[in-house]
Order: sequence, then C-alpha cells, then structure tokens
Amino acid sequence: MSERTLAIIKPDAVKKHAIGDIIASYEKAGLTPVAIRMMQFSKSTAEGFYAVHKARPFFDSLCTFMSSGPVVVLVLQGDNAIKKNRELMGATDPAKADAGTIRKAHGANIEFNAVHGSDSPETAKFEVSYFFPQTDIVG
Ligand code: RTP
Ligand code: MG
Repeated sequence: MSERTLAIIKPDAVKKHAIGDIIASYEKAGLTPVAIRMMQFSKSTAEGFYAVHKARPFFDSLCTFMSSGPVVVLVLQGDNAIKKNRELMGATDPAKADAGTIRKAHGANIEFNAVHGSDSPETAKFEVSYFFPQTDIVG
C-alpha cells in the first residue's frame, strides 16, 4: 500500500555534505520525494516536533542539536514507506545499525545519527502536517 512518511536529514548530515547521498538512498529504495524543504529549526519548532519525548533525559540536548544548523525535511512516498524508511535508516545507535543503512554510513553516535523517520502511520500524519500544508505536496 502506498503511504507517506516524514524524513529529516539532520544538522550533522547536512554539515557533512551528505544530503545528496542520503536522497540517493531514498530514491534507490523506491521512496519518492513528494515534498522537500530546507530550513533551520528554532528551539521551539524542535520542541514541538519531538513533544512525544518531552519527559526523556535527552530531550533538551536533542532539541538543541536539531536547531543547531540547517536541516532538509522531506515527505517520502512509496509502498510501505514508513517501515521501508525505518529499515533503510538503521538502528537509532549507528554503532548497532546494519551495514548498508544510512545511519551506519553517516551517523556518529546515538544522538548525532544523521536522519529522522516517522515510526507509525499516526506519527507520520502528524509529522508531515507539522511542516507541509497539503498544497505543498506533489503527486
Ligand atoms: P528519530 O525519531 O530521530 O527518527 O529516531 P528514532 O526513532 O530512531 O529514536 P527515538 O527514540 O525516537 O529518539 C529520537 C532522537 O533522540 C536522540 N536520542 N538521543 N542520548 C540518547 O540516549 C538519545 N536517545 C535518542 C536521537 O537523535 C534520536 O534519533
Ligand atoms: Mg523516533
């Protein structure tokens, strides 16, 4: 079933000039970009996006990191896009990520891990609408 997921190329990966390589990985996996936006999060944009993690010990550090530099936010579309993107990303901790995953290639540690991907249909819906009005999504 074709579905949409939200991906973010995080500030660490943008700084390393890995945008092109990461988007190529999405395309090779059959995930089609249907919206792309480059921006820098404010701290409160990051806090709203990661509100589900508010109680976690890493919340403040995560939001500081996510607002530390430009990011690329994408909507990816394809069959089983949510699960497919999570598999392509690899484990949260790049040290535990499988070979061939984006986090294995570009992540440094459990916090600076190169990419974000929605983890369920409910979060995908919230996350896509957090950044993109329907009229800014093609296809
Ligand atoms: P994401 O939401 O970014 O796609 O990552 P995820 O589902 O694999 O991991 P999640 O548990 O949702 O955590 C969100 C992000 O918080 C940072 N983190 N830091 N210091 C830590 O122990 C820790 N744990 C998580 C990571 O940047 C992680 O991607
Ligand atoms: Mg997550």
